[in-house]
Amino acid sequence: MTPKEANIRSEFPLLREKIYGKYITYLDNGATTQKPRCVLQCIEEIYEHYNSNIHRGVHYLSNKCTDLFEQARHTIAEHLNAREDAEVIFTRGTTEAINLLAYSFGETFCKEGDEIIVSEMEHHANIVPWQMLCERKRMTLRVIPITDNGELVMESVEPMISERTRLIAVTHVSNVMGTINDVERIIKIAHSHNVPVLVDGAQSMPHVRIDVQAMDCDFLAFSGHKMYAPNGSGALYGKREYLDKMVPYHGGGEMIDHVSFKGTTYNVIPFKFEAGTPDYVSAIALAEAIRFMESLDMDYIMAHEQALVQYALHRMRSLEGMRIIGDAKYRSGAISFLVGKIHHYDMGMILDKMGIAVRTGHHCAQPLMERMGITGTVRASFGVYNTEEDVEALIKGIMKATAMLG
Ligand code: ALA
Repeated sequence: MTPKEANIRSEFPLLREKIYGKYITYLDNGATTQKPRCVLQCIEEIYEHYNSNIHRGVHYLSNKCTDLFEQARHTIAEHLNAREDAEVIFTRGTTEAINLLAYSFGETFCKEGDEIIVSEMEHHANIVPWQMLCERKRMTLRVIPITDNGELVMESVEPMISERTRLIAVTHVSNVMGTINDVERIIKIAHSHNVPVLVDGAQSMPHVRIDVQAMDCDFLAFSGHKMYAPNGSGALYGKREYLDKMVPYHGGGEMIDHVSFKGTTYNVIPFKFEAGTPDYVSAIALAEAIRFMESLDMDYIMAHEQALVQYALHRMRSLEGMRIIGDAKYRSGAISFLVGKIHHYDMGMILDKMGIAVRTGHHCAQPLMERMGITGTVRASFGVYNTEEDVEALIKGIMKATAMLG
């Protein structure tokens, strides 16, 4: 472990916890990350010193929290290189962001007979909201297939687009296989047909630098809790040209301009989409997590995790009976695997007893499991605080579990 790695780890109190008497090897970052001290302190500081509902009071505390909340929006907009803060809508995470989009975009721009395109490697959160829209409006969901390597069949994208295509919704990074999709290419193809693109950034925001203007995505959804921020934080980025036209998602306080029983008019973006009291504490702490990541440098995070994933793949491939699910050329974050005929759940249980936290199951990607002809995988997913020592612990754990179960 390098001094820098040790320093980073020391910022995360949970990594010093022992499970069954052993220091935890935390490799479930695709599900959620641990939180650095600065994020935990930020939450405590707000509740101890500033807590008050935002956008509603004339008093000091309310103004203070409102300022912190809007500064957090600015921090996120800058991190994403959005054109303006108003293009960042706070949500509880990726799932809520995509549901918001599927409803509001669907109600505004879609009608019977229209089509939405997703891919075969999507998380359920980027499938089901679109299926619900398709059911509601009698539309069709079309699916970009994937190769045995776990990459999108890029040649199928353009022929799938028709004059009925309203949106392409595709993940940037697969939560199961870690495949990094060439979303820039998809966006170029889509835009040449005037079709907007949603990028599901849940599994890429923690690992790679995202510049929404350079990428030119029309929408991007992400979750704070997968990038060192609290649960209940996240956002939908969207281009103003769409957001301005889209109908609201939830009705309630803050999203209105004027309410009367004759009719209600709505607020401007982003407030039009932020009905009710948001989780402003988590939103403010999300900005703190972004500052933490930027202080480490996104280039360092990318390089460190890429090297670690390559190291883990190299070590895992040497194990007997090892089957890595997905072998994409460009990958990040997650490695899914199976060993011989051992059930993923059994492997996960034994690893757990050795203090190694991995995720098992279908990872909310059942269509992908079906495509790969499996019921589930064991998934090791990495964060900035993981080291080669974690990989070695995993390798040792897999060997021990294989000896016990194989
Ligand atoms: N979507 C999260 C995962 O992939 C929970 O683990």
